[in-house]
Amino acid sequence: MYGVKFFSGDDIPLEMHKVRMVQRLYLQPIEARVHNMQAAGYNTFLLKNRDVFLDMLSDSGVNAMSENQYAAMLQADDSYAGSETFYRLEKALQEVFQSKYFLPAHQGRACEHILAQTFVTPGSVALMNYHFTTAKALITVSGGVVEELINDDGLKVKGNAPFKGDIDIGKLNEAVRRLGREKISFLRLEAGTNLVGGQPISMKNIREVSQICRKEGIISVFDASLLADNLFFIKTRDPEFANTDLKDITREIASLMDIIYFSARKLGAARGGGILTSDTNLYLKMRDLVPLYEGFLTYGGMSVREMEALAVGLYETLDMDIISQTPIFVESLCNDLIAKGIPVVTPPGGLGCHIDAMEFCAHVPQTEYPAGALTAAFYIAAGVRGMERGTLSEQRNPDGSEHLAAVELLRLALPKRVFTLSQIKYVSDRMEWLYRNRALIGGLEFEEEPKVLRFFCGRLRPRGNWPDALIKQFRKDFGDSL
Ligand SMILES: Cc1ncc(COP(=O)(O)O)c(C=O)c1O
Repeated sequence: MYGVKFFSGDDIPLEMHKVRMVQRLYLQPIEARVHNMQAAGYNTFLLKNRDVFLDMLSDSGVNAMSENQYAAMLQADDSYAGSETFYRLEKALQEVFQSKYFLPAHQGRACEHILAQTFVTPGSVALMNYHFTTAKALITVSGGVVEELINDDGLKVKGNAPFKGDIDIGKLNEAVRRLGREKISFLRLEAGTNLVGGQPISMKNIREVSQICRKEGIISVFDASLLADNLFFIKTRDPEFANTDLKDITREIASLMDIIYFSARKLGAARGGGILTSDTNLYLKMRDLVPLYEGFLTYGGMSVREMEALAVGLYETLDMDIISQTPIFVESLCNDLIAKGIPVVTPPGGLGCHIDAMEFCAHVPQTEYPAGALTAAFYIAAGVRGMERGTLSEQRNPDGSEHLAAVELLRLALPKRVFTLSQIKYVSDRMEWLYRNRALIGGLEFEEEPKVLRFFCGRLRPRGNWPDALIKQFRKDFGDSL
């Protein structure tokens, strides 16, 4: 729980839930982990879950659901059109965001697809604080370009700026002047900015960006997938909101944006997605794409059970005891690693702990994918599956040259209310071992490189036989331990 003090003075992230259903985990020996990594082409997306001890790939669709969410699933009303479930979910969304219209979609990128198809024209520019992989790929496929306007602190791995996801207002004004309103497809603000370490946006910034968009006639789009973490940080880092109800913070954000979309694999701890707006014109522009790509307007490709779980999960997003669990666990893990000298993104954000691979593997050139190498090495060292968030997650430039990422991160996601503190301690322990032996980690090179979103299905190989060197050192230090 946020803010409970221990007599010992220790900073312990206290769980405000108890475990009533469990999943058996297996930890395989390091030799098997190297074999699994090879079979997966040194890409943690291609590992089988049965070969993973702690799955920290993502929180997407794997957050723990509450008993109330499971209970709600039983009342799902399955019908192709007009199901009661849709109207219950619509009511919950309207209540939480105060928006008039709800377009359902099967997940976050499906919403991005509809937005790109509707508003992106060849040569147009989508302004944003920072891109997300799927949003950028879909805008690019539609012939548009992404321009990022994040403030300078946002791309500094270490710092203490409380809202590193903020847009630089000076850069925004300059971009609007340079491009002109006609060339801008929309402005997208991403809550809990994923690719720079789960960093929040401030309300001050949302207000300023909204004012500019409304003055200039630019459509403002808010990606609320990571809203829960962002709400936590607005409440705890901005004194103006210390005593404001999460419901009211959410409503203010919603009132400032023309369109809100979300991945319900993240927001609401279910699986699905949706687009919200109160603007009839914008709604009608997007509406007909839902039956075309997703499913009829009252399910949009979602299972009705998930829709029921989402409606309950949305209300739970407004409960500080529930949403604080991830950020306080992230902070605890980050502080533990910092104390061991391991470079992590600071201040700790939401979503997960982000290790700075550029510093951790300073000897691996960026063209050999240090964040990918560290991600593979950590699976080998610990059986823990993280995700590369660096150059591998970028797209090549139009001329085929490598687009080096601004930051090279290994993300260890903390799905909501899934892991225990002892598991987090294990992660920290194995990371310390790897850090002490970081010189053994080598680079990666592509064996098979997909053209779009290459990080999902691309296959790589190690440059040299550094995985064997890790096995040797592990056996020396840990004996026959797993
Ligand atoms: C900020 C953000 N936006 C959009 C998406 C895409 O959502 P989905 O995975 O449901 O397609 C994600 C997924 O991780 C995300 O983190």
